[in-house]
Amino acid sequence: MPAISASAPGKIILVGEHAVVYGRPAIAIPVEQVRAKAIVSANPKQAPGTVFIQAPNIGIETTLAELPVEDPLAVAVNSVFQTLNISRPPALTLRVSATIPIAAGLGSGTAISIAIIRALSAFLGKPFSDERVSTLAYEIEKIHHGTPSGIDNTVITYRQPIYFQRISEDHIEIKKISLPQAFTIIIADTGIPSPTSSTVGDVRQAWLVQPEHYESIFDKIGTIVKEALCEIQSGQVEKLGKLMTANHQLLVDLGVSSPELDRLVRASLEAGAWGAKLSGGGRGGNIIALASEEQASWITQGLKSAGATHAITTLISESLHTNL
Ligand code: PMV
Repeated sequence: MPAISASAPGKIILVGEHAVVYGRPAIAIPVEQVRAKAIVSANPKQAPGTVFIQAPNIGIETTLAELPVEDPLAVAVNSVFQTLNISRPPALTLRVSATIPIAAGLGSGTAISIAIIRALSAFLGKPFSDERVSTLAYEIEKIHHGTPSGIDNTVITYRQPIYFQRISEDHIEIKKISLPQAFTIIIADTGIPSPTSSTVGDVRQAWLVQPEHYESIFDKIGTIVKEALCEIQSGQVEKLGKLMTANHQLLVDLGVSSPELDRLVRASLEAGAWGAKLSGGGRGGNIIALASEEQASWITQGLKSAGATHAITTLISESLHTNL
């Protein structure tokens, strides 16, 4: 049986993170320059039921039976077996790799889950639909993040810019965004890992203590997201930049920024970006800056001088994939 591989992109949240967990909308965009990849191959020399897992990026080389059941890789693999009612899989090797930085707000964990689900279900002769892939990845996120909005699994599964809102536990609204004008985003890493579960958990604690205060911040973020959608759809990217910077300030108010993130946001604005903000869970990870294509390399230099450990420039354009 030939080896089967699948990959999944990283993602950024353009506007709306954290408030999206509380039912407000957010806009997310796939980032195809960074990817997670899973390869599944038959392992006929091993006894049936032996699943060998190699993930060199995170130093894992073991069997499924030896991994803790709550390990994210084990959860992804077992979710496929359970969905297909497979109690004794054929002997196989799963190799996982990723160029997406871990715990950096770029969706690495979700992309890895999605690549595994796609490759394994295809290897077993039952490739899952996008809808099933996204649903399984959301269930996995719940185990690890507690209260995810579902935006990460949605944008990474469908691989196109989306406007996302969770109306209720089982009702989400997803709109594919058309982009009349391509725009350039610089993604710059503080180099500080920050698990999303801890910032999401901290925001929840704060919201439980002062619900009205936090609800009013979420409302302001929701308004920014709606305005951002209008600016994107009418090609007004400079106005979109101002909204991103305003969103960053509200994330500061939520307590999820950090001196390093603030420094990178300031550096990109000083170098001429139209707007900038942290992206994802915050406290560490990445900022995103919106700029003209001509200014991207100048802004990248400014970001590196201000301490960014890594920066990538990505051109956001009309649909990369069209089956939403
Ligand atoms: O996974 P991250 O760090 O990109 O964060 C996802 C966005 C949050 O709104 C912070 C969490 C969520 O589930 O929506």
